Amino acid sequence: MSLPGFRPNSSGGDAGGYRIAVFGAGYIGLVTGACFAKLGHQVVIRDIQEERIDTLRSGGVPIHEEGLAELIAENADRLTFTLDAAEAVRGAHVVYVCVDTPSTAAGDADLSRIWQVIDSLRGADQLAAVVVKSTVPVGTGEQVRAALDRAGLQHVGYASNPEFTAEGRAVHDFLHPDRVVIGSADPETAKLVTLLHEGVEGPEIVMDVASAEMVKLAANALLAAKISFTNEIATVCETNGADVEQVVRAVGLDHRLGPHFMKAGVGWGGSCFPKDSRALQAMANNGGYAFQMLRAVVDVNDLQPRRAIQRLKDELGGAFHDLTVAVLGIAFKAGTDDVREAPSTIIASRLVAEGATVRCWDPLARPLKTAPWLSATRCASPVEAMTGADAAIIVTEWPELLEVDWAGAASAMARPLLFDGRNLLDPEQMGSLGFTYMSVGRTTVRASR
Ligand code: UDX
Repeated sequence: MSLPGFRPNSSGGDAGGYRIAVFGAGYIGLVTGACFAKLGHQVVIRDIQEERIDTLRSGGVPIHEEGLAELIAENADRLTFTLDAAEAVRGAHVVYVCVDTPSTAAGDADLSRIWQVIDSLRGADQLAAVVVKSTVPVGTGEQVRAALDRAGLQHVGYASNPEFTAEGRAVHDFLHPDRVVIGSADPETAKLVTLLHEGVEGPEIVMDVASAEMVKLAANALLAAKISFTNEIATVCETNGADVEQVVRAVGLDHRLGPHFMKAGVGWGGSCFPKDSRALQAMANNGGYAFQMLRAVVDVNDLQPRRAIQRLKDELGGAFHDLTVAVLGIAFKAGTDDVREAPSTIIASRLVAEGATVRCWDPLARPLKTAPWLSATRCASPVEAMTGADAAIIVTEWPELLEVDWAGAASAMARPLLFDGRNLLDPEQMGSLGFTYMSVGRTTVRASR
């Protein structure tokens, strides 16, 4: 394949200054666009949400992501934002597709936004390549290739370049990745994607498109499996008197296993693990195969927040009605404002359904679309949320919770009962401060004073 009309922008920086149109100004698109701008490329980011683009144009950043605002500000001369797809594509060498692929009602990935991007490329003869970063089912690249061919863009290369960045450290992960995976049928396109990443510190692995698509789904499924496995070990620990934290510390020292993604808790959430495990299950099912291990991984995770609520309820004498419970943390993990598929949704909704009054705290979380009432009960500090409460539950591992005056909180609560859903605090210490302290995979400690 040749790259007709392909001319690196000589006014760019060290990496040659290609012109990149990034579609999608979400967590992935913004980080991708800002990092490419930092690497010296001219980037235009396009989104369909007017409010988002207005915010970006006026110097704001619509999401919280560590270091992103600074990166966008520092590279403002190489970054523009638009609502207009044609404007974004005009003059671009490469189109990066970073739109979201949410679950359909059937659990498959909804690719409609990807198709809208591809449809908007008709006539973009100067393009050298289209690269999909969004997480997609295996086989999507082949379909996109065929769609580009039908649109008269046979000369435009195609590559899959899945993202592995974790929210809260996405800028760092992009610039210092464990690996950059590039899937392409043609070596020139793979070479081009490699060139775009010049300046990124990490190994590159080039493979076929389908395998690259699969890497992302397999990696996320295995990470989710590691957490669910740890949570099952935690449950067994609870019933047998072992301490999951001690177990995991020793297990993780085995170099074949490693210590990561073995933190027991109320389960995984976020924009990737739940959606991607559903998509991989659906993909397997569509091919007539039931991915049994993955089903168990998801089932265990669905149970985690429910088990926590049930244990708390039993401790409270079997009912939440007329009681007040403080929910500490709404975001799906610390360091992000993202609430997508956060365990807090299930926990808070269950509490409300059982008649409890919920008071919550979170330093960053956006309002939850699925539980708008949570905003109304939001407190300014953890202690404010716990004041007068009959129980509190830690759902997100915010470091701020380590700084709380827990002795003061114990006195301020109607009943000093704390369920630590992230094993953040020390059981003995919490007991000595007057708490009945429950956690995941560890013995419940009763107040020792
Ligand atoms: C994940 C992948 O890590 C990333 O590579 C991919 O690109 C997108 O999905 P992210 O969803 O941002 O990233 O968060 P991550 O840090 O992986 O955590 C996911 C969930 O697992 C969170 O809810 C977190 O609280 C939970 N988790 C993580 C645990 O319960 N225990 C652990 O040991 C690790």
